[in-house]
Amino acid sequence: MTIQTVDYTTKIPNNVNLTEDRQVLRALESWHPGYIDWWLDMGPEGFQDALVYLRTAVSVDPKGWAKFDYVKMPNYRWGILLAPKDEGRTVPFGRHYGEPAWQEVPGEYRAMLRRLVVIQGDTEPASVEQQRHLGKTAPSLYDLRNVFQVNVEEGRHLWAMVYLLQKYFGRDGREEAAALLQRRSGDADKPRMLGAFNEATPDWLSFHMFTFFTDRDGKMQLESLAQSGFDPLSRTCRFMLTEEAHHMFVGETGVGRTIQRTCEAMKEAGIEDPGEIDKIRALGVIDLPTMQKKLNLHYSLSLDLFGSEVSTNAANTFTAGLKGRFQETKIQDDHRLESATYPVLKLVDGEIKRVDEPALTAINMRLRDDYTADCQRGLDRWNKIIDKIGVPFKFTLPHVGFHRQIGEFKDVHATPDGTLVDDATWARDKANWLPSSADGEFIASLMKPVTEPGQFAGWIAPPRVGIDNKPGDFEYVKIAA
Ligand SMILES: [Fe+2]
Ligand SMILES: [Fe+2]
Repeated sequence: MTIQTVDYTTKIPNNVNLTEDRQVLRALESWHPGYIDWWLDMGPEGFQDALVYLRTAVSVDPKGWAKFDYVKMPNYRWGILLAPKDEGRTVPFGRHYGEPAWQEVPGEYRAMLRRLVVIQGDTEPASVEQQRHLGKTAPSLYDLRNVFQVNVEEGRHLWAMVYLLQKYFGRDGREEAAALLQRRSGDADKPRMLGAFNEATPDWLSFHMFTFFTDRDGKMQLESLAQSGFDPLSRTCRFMLTEEAHHMFVGETGVGRTIQRTCEAMKEAGIEDPGEIDKIRALGVIDLPTMQKKLNLHYSLSLDLFGSEVSTNAANTFTAGLKGRFQETKIQDDHRLESATYPVLKLVDGEIKRVDEPALTAINMRLRDDYTADCQRGLDRWNKIIDKIGVPFKFTLPHVGFHRQIGEFKDVHATPDGTLVDDATWARDKANWLPSSADGEFIASLMKPVTEPGQFAGWIAPPRVGIDNKPGDFEYVKIAA
């Protein structure tokens, strides 16, 4: 297996030999100006001229794939990078299990495959749009740099999907690539395709929760597409996962530092009860119960991204060999699932019950369960921070029936512990479970920008180490005058 180096001689850095693929190179080059227009229009507002200390992918070698340097975001080298080809790779699941992986789109699955690529592609620019106002209220230059890093990489992920569309799907692929630059997050007429990507990201706690919960959905989707029998999609997603790890880091440590600061401030002020919300807020930090509400919101919105618990669509993409399970190749079974079952929580006669469904139609459910387990491990680490400082509080994931818009529970109201309640109870109590507008206003009141190197807003603790091992007072962003 050879590691291809990245060709920086073309306008578009790549390891897919674009110079010899004239037609695709031309398609990408004609898409590029529209992308830059979109970036200037919908990317980070007010920071297009700032010099940002960013990492850029320079190889797909796991031991040294990125280099760090100051760059103005519109000049970032967005490139096309695929993980190295694994010679002899076979389709790891479904009807074609064991056949050689496809290097071209199988005709019978063309529409299904294109839709998977378009849906994934649509989420990438959406999150950039959702986060475009955050720069104005960043709690530090370190955090400012992190949101921009996430943004440019989501931009690159869009490039990755556009490459697949333009190389493998001809004219309709080019049309889809153009449409990816036309939809807008939260727009009433031309919204992004999935719900959570049309929600606002109004403050930095939302951003960190979003990168923890919603980028983690992205990670799970990429993991399942990385298993695809369509090899170019698999290789593309495998490299995207390398970048995605940083997005998880930004979310988990961002929330973790917020928790730490709150607990420390409580200790310093001698406040033992996490429920003393007014006293805690008076310290200029975000109380833990409000963070729990934010967590409830972002987790439930992200669960919706997995689609219906029982889905023939999901069964079809699995059987076709296009979208697998999390860590498919490590699972010990027949990888065809024609007779297996999987337990699914469903609404049966007004009660939440565990029902065995055919494993094939429960593919979404299984991926979502793997996601929940991954989230829980993050919560455990947050709870350790609280424990260590000695505050009696514990974050929990709400029940999967709580606050759902898609799937089994969309027509009922369930509390975070999974009790079904009527409309009146929900309306009366939901402000205990989801952020209220007053909570939002309080958080917004803390969002004051801090732009002095090495300084941090009072509601968030500094990170333990710098990016690229830089010292604490490193100027991660040189803001243009
Ligand atoms: Fe992404
Ligand atoms: Fe991401």
